[in-house]
Amino acid sequence: MKKHNHQQAKRPTTDKRSNHQAKRPAVSYIIKRNGAYWPSKEMKKIANISDPKIYEKAAKDPIKFWGKLAEEGISWEKKWDKTYVEKLPYFEWFKGGKLNFCINCVDRHLDQPNKTALIWIPEPINEKPIKITYGELHNKVSKFANVLKQNGIEKGDVVSIYLPMVPQALIAMLACTRIGAIHSVVFSAFSADALKTRIIDGKAKILITSDGYYRKGKPEDLLKKAKKAAKRTTVKKIIVVSRIGKKVRGRKFLNFDEELEKADDYCEPEMMKSEDTMFLLYTSGTTGKPKGVIHDTGGYATQAYWTCKWNFDLHPEDVMWCTADIGWITGHTYAMYGPLLTGATTLIYEGGPTFPNPGRWWKIIQDYKVNVFYTAPTAIRLFMKENPSWIKKHDLSSLKILGSVGEPIDKKSWMWYLEKIGGSRCPIIDTWWQTETGGTVINTLPGIGPFVPTISGKSFPGTEHVIVNEKGNPVKKGESGFLAQKSPFAPGMLHGVHNNHKKYVDTYWKKFKTMYDTSDGAHIENNLIRITGRTDDVMKVAGHRLATAEVENAIHDNKKVGDCAVVPMPDKMKGQVPIAFVVLKKSKPSEKLEKKLIKYVDKKIGPTARPKKIFFVDDLPKTRSGKIMRRILRALLINEKPEGLSTLINPDSVEKIKTIINQKIPTSNK
Ligand code: WTA
Repeated sequence: MKKHNHQQAKRPTTDKRSNHQAKRPAVSYIIKRNGAYWPSKEMKKIANISDPKIYEKAAKDPIKFWGKLAEEGISWEKKWDKTYVEKLPYFEWFKGGKLNFCINCVDRHLDQPNKTALIWIPEPINEKPIKITYGELHNKVSKFANVLKQNGIEKGDVVSIYLPMVPQALIAMLACTRIGAIHSVVFSAFSADALKTRIIDGKAKILITSDGYYRKGKPEDLLKKAKKAAKRTTVKKIIVVSRIGKKVRGRKFLNFDEELEKADDYCEPEMMKSEDTMFLLYTSGTTGKPKGVIHDTGGYATQAYWTCKWNFDLHPEDVMWCTADIGWITGHTYAMYGPLLTGATTLIYEGGPTFPNPGRWWKIIQDYKVNVFYTAPTAIRLFMKENPSWIKKHDLSSLKILGSVGEPIDKKSWMWYLEKIGGSRCPIIDTWWQTETGGTVINTLPGIGPFVPTISGKSFPGTEHVIVNEKGNPVKKGESGFLAQKSPFAPGMLHGVHNNHKKYVDTYWKKFKTMYDTSDGAHIENNLIRITGRTDDVMKVAGHRLATAEVENAIHDNKKVGDCAVVPMPDKMKGQVPIAFVVLKKSKPSEKLEKKLIKYVDKKIGPTARPKKIFFVDDLPKTRSGKIMRRILRALLINEKPEGLSTLINPDSVEKIKTIINQKIPTSNK
């Protein structure tokens, strides 16, 4: 077979090299001026972008702007005919263009085959970390792509991936993109039920999983859940990574590494249309059924590449560590794909953050000279509790940029992150985005600034967000409202909901018609965007996205339950935690039943969804039309005066619930 020489594909433009680490340890990348932080001269000098005029330039003609970025950053087999076509609620980027995503992540970096692409840190400290070079990655991905093909996977087929943070996860994902298969990654802490629904919705032919993984020093079984989920579905084969040494038998099962070894090491990449679906990722909305967000190839690649370069000032010689699991969009875009698209090194860690001690993360940064560190406020709060000596012991001078994602970051955590981890030298990039946006869309750029606690910043050049009222009209300056994105929509944005056009329209386009509804609230402070949180029934528990309805559905499975409402309550560590209000049919409330329900939710969805507390109540506050007023329950939990009581058919229920809450959670503890 004729072998394409994809190494010749265009490489990303050369960078201003950042030898900051070798030459000038502990350089300061920020300065304090007028109560805010700004990029220092050193930061401006190395920054991939430092000209504030970029915003104006991009805004003049965003379509042309993105066209130029796509051409510069991504290697195309064929250039597009039209940069942007919009026919709402759908829109297409780089129409007619052809590319292969895997070439962009791997093949085009093969002029430096010995450069490390991936560093994998296993949890057990006696086990050796693994480094995979771009050359090795190319070989393994090609081989595994052939394994998929041998097992009947063709372009457009869905492959479910249910893996912990192991190198095989990246290999499997990239192998799918090499042959044009669509991956659907499911968070490994999710339950068998959650996996099953996603397998069924995607009609996945193959499931890739592992026998287990290590967490807090112990092997955890994964295969049991995977097997259960795959039963009576479209899954024909289960490819298993052997991680904890369990014996796996049966005709349906294949061993990941053994199959990979046997396979041919050449796999012709499949050229895809820019608009072809690259992956599905299921996320929680306002109903109990998660939706399969569709991401395309060319637009996603463009946004992932440029946001890595500009937000995190990623240079090819940098090591980036994004702590997010691949089960979430952050893991897809910034732990896996973004760093590889830019030819940098990505680091992933298998295990628990404080294993075997709270110094583990900081030791990893020190040992592998991590330059860009990207994590969630919930993790920051976890470490704030620990003895600071765990940090001080380690040399964190390699760090250049710190990122935050997943939920609003409070000022105290922001300052702690800046001072303790960043040594007051590194900018904090507070990135606002969603599974739906594919890549970041609102944040400050490190070479431009300012870095202000609790403020995300500006819309990424070439995108525009506005803050509007219910009717879609802009609110007055400084007032809070709904955050909406204007056309042309960012190239990484979702391209629909799998199997559900109606859901796509209802969720994102019904409210503002010509603008994308983010479901987040925000306001502007000094021309910068401050995110205030979700405006719908979606919670962020330890940064993980979860619908109140999913938890309610699980609780409703119990026959004793008559009615139920779940609402988020603020939590010092996790940001938010689910609290359930349950009306029982006949049974008497008991601690045993509370425990049983909590355990069931854990099993049905996963540990993130466990209600922190269940209040058994006689009645839930409802409107005349029967709608449960969750807003009132939320207010009661934080001891605020609830509004809108006059619309209730049962206003008495509110006082009663208040009494029950106060008995269980004294006001002083809220
Ligand atoms: C929230 C995660 C405040 C927001 C990438 C959004 C944030 C939801 C931030 C999406 C941030 C994410 N500041 N809130 N920097 N980043 N969010 O789909 O409510 O898991 O709508 O994507 O997280 O969560 P998802």
